[in-house]
Amino acid sequence: MTTTTGTTAVTGAVGAAHTRLEGRDKVTGAARYAGEIPFAELAHGWLVLSTIARGRVRSVESAPVLAMPGVLTVLHHGNAPRVDGSYAGMLGRPDPIVEVFQHDRVPYVGWPVALVVAETSEQAREAAEALVVQYDEEPHDIAFFADRPGTYTPENSPAAQAETEKGDIEAELAASAVVVDAAYTTPEEHHSSLEPHAATARWDSGRLDVVDSNQGSMWVADELAKLFSLDPASVRVRSEHVGGAFGSKGVRPHQILAVMATTVLHRPVRVVLTRRQMFSLVGYRSPTAQRVRLGADTDGRLRAFDHQAQSLTSTVHEFIERSADMGRVMYDADAHHTVNRVVPLDVPTPTWMRAPGEAPGSFALESALDELAEKIGMDPIALRARNEPDAGPVSGLPFSSRNVLACFQEGARRFGWADRDPRPGTRREGRWLLGTGTAAATYSSGVVPSTAAVTAETDGTFTVRITAADVGTGARTALALIAADALEVEPGRIRIQIADSDFGPAMIAGGSMGTRSWGWAIMAAARELREQLVLGGDIPPQGITARSDTGAAVSALAKKERHSFGAQFAEVAVDVTSGEVRVRRMLGIFAAGRIVNPLTARSQFIGGMTWGLSMALHEEAIRDQASGGHVGADFAGYHFAANADVPLIEADWVDDPDADDPVGIKGIGEIGIVGAAAAIANAVWHATGVRHRDLPIRPDRVL
Ligand code: MOS
Repeated sequence: MTTTTGTTAVTGAVGAAHTRLEGRDKVTGAARYAGEIPFAELAHGWLVLSTIARGRVRSVESAPVLAMPGVLTVLHHGNAPRVDGSYAGMLGRPDPIVEVFQHDRVPYVGWPVALVVAETSEQAREAAEALVVQYDEEPHDIAFFADRPGTYTPENSPAAQAETEKGDIEAELAASAVVVDAAYTTPEEHHSSLEPHAATARWDSGRLDVVDSNQGSMWVADELAKLFSLDPASVRVRSEHVGGAFGSKGVRPHQILAVMATTVLHRPVRVVLTRRQMFSLVGYRSPTAQRVRLGADTDGRLRAFDHQAQSLTSTVHEFIERSADMGRVMYDADAHHTVNRVVPLDVPTPTWMRAPGEAPGSFALESALDELAEKIGMDPIALRARNEPDAGPVSGLPFSSRNVLACFQEGARRFGWADRDPRPGTRREGRWLLGTGTAAATYSSGVVPSTAAVTAETDGTFTVRITAADVGTGARTALALIAADALEVEPGRIRIQIADSDFGPAMIAGGSMGTRSWGWAIMAAARELREQLVLGGDIPPQGITARSDTGAAVSALAKKERHSFGAQFAEVAVDVTSGEVRVRRMLGIFAAGRIVNPLTARSQFIGGMTWGLSMALHEEAIRDQASGGHVGADFAGYHFAANADVPLIEADWVDDPDADDPVGIKGIGEIGIVGAAAAIANAVWHATGVRHRDLPIRPDRVL
């Protein structure tokens, strides 16, 4: 298949605002989500989760529950079908939660211990709540704190180093005129997508058919096939509409248990998670404890850079929140050290949550830069400009493009930064102290081999098929625009079908790599199709289809530091009587590749920035040390930003096409949140003169 690089012939679809293709279906209710698609003979499963944090299940007392109205079965470790969870999936070894009901061990509160299946969801729930489970409880340990010794297992992530080191940190710190040595913490945070996780599984003519809500139907299909030892061709997973995901919608217990139950009952089974269950079943962002040490000359040049990050993981799987990675891209120094350590505890395994690593890492690092600027008496933007590296600080590789200063310049101009009095605590309006702050943002730009098919139909339309996922970002629409330009036709002539594992391997919606990876595959298939059409002849009734596989082209990419960049600005007002922090305005300027659809891209940036505001001021999951479980695992107890918290928020971008991508894309999914919390924390310092190194910046911490 042909895959060429360089700029495509532009017909103007890419780069022009376009409303979501499925927008009308979504707002009228015509779009069906995984939990509401009707099936004949549908049975409903309700999960029962462990109430202890460590121990064993002694007994699941099913008999009384099986006599309740409508109850069809109770699955648990004693009777569930066997699976083999020792495989490596598309994204490596799976979280051992895929081995639900395979043993009697309980590694944390919220581990699945039973699934009650009944004729109706209400009957299943009533029986699940009546089910008695007996445990042999063991002492548990969930205490995460800054000085707790952490470690990492190098063989778990050989490609992505946990630790990097060059030079003599202590010597350079000692030789530095100015030193910042500060500790920061961020709490446990949750991505609780508006649409809860839901899956319906059934056997259909010898094939396993799963209707799901996920970030990658191929990913889920691949893992279900391996887990249940099935021929991959006999598994089909679809996920047409997804109401948010943010890293949480991979392979989770609901799909696996729906497959087990349909296998036992010989009828379709649906499992939907509740909001509360999501807090323990779908992953979350680990709390972090970070220490940043910066040593600089009086002109701001960094001599020593040390970022040490600590997060937690479960006792069954090592997941590392890579908070220390950002400095490997952003700042060089004579001595440079970064490390990500973890502490295994009796808690659920964390997972990717929007901008994994960089979201909490940027809070610590970009706060520390602001502290250094204060100590030197230098403008925070000038300090960053002074330390712009020529090449990757750790890799030594050249940057594909690095427009971070262009973002700061444009942002400073639009935000009015030049008028800022750098002294803290000098602006006051009645009981409000006012301040402004800034921070840098970055996130890696990657691409993963994908396949696509494009068909020329006899009616003059084109059908694009790709196992992409639109998790609410507008990916479906962006891909249609890319196809329109590639085929040089109006977007209205493109029909796009996504999120069906039968369409073949493709990247998941994750890591800011979805649209770039899929767009490349669509470009390649479209070029191939045009070559076939040029060869002439009538289009047969079934159309003419061209397929692409970008494997060779993607692996031929030269090694470079490839990242999106940005500059965040915030203005806050701090109420000196209540300690309340109000964000008055935020501005984010990004250099994030060619922007395919400005309408949905802006929305995605603003969504990330809003999340950063939420992270700065509101979000915090609390665990009870005695029980090991959450306090307030719902939308009443877990605070997050609402519309009233976000008065004026703007996102825009500078021209930054990636020369090595056929469309010029870099990826925009994660970067909106990066640096946003630091910009707000830096603004709170500017308003009050007090540093806040622990998130969220709650009123009781401000007073
Ligand atoms: Mo994103 S956290 O890679 O879904």
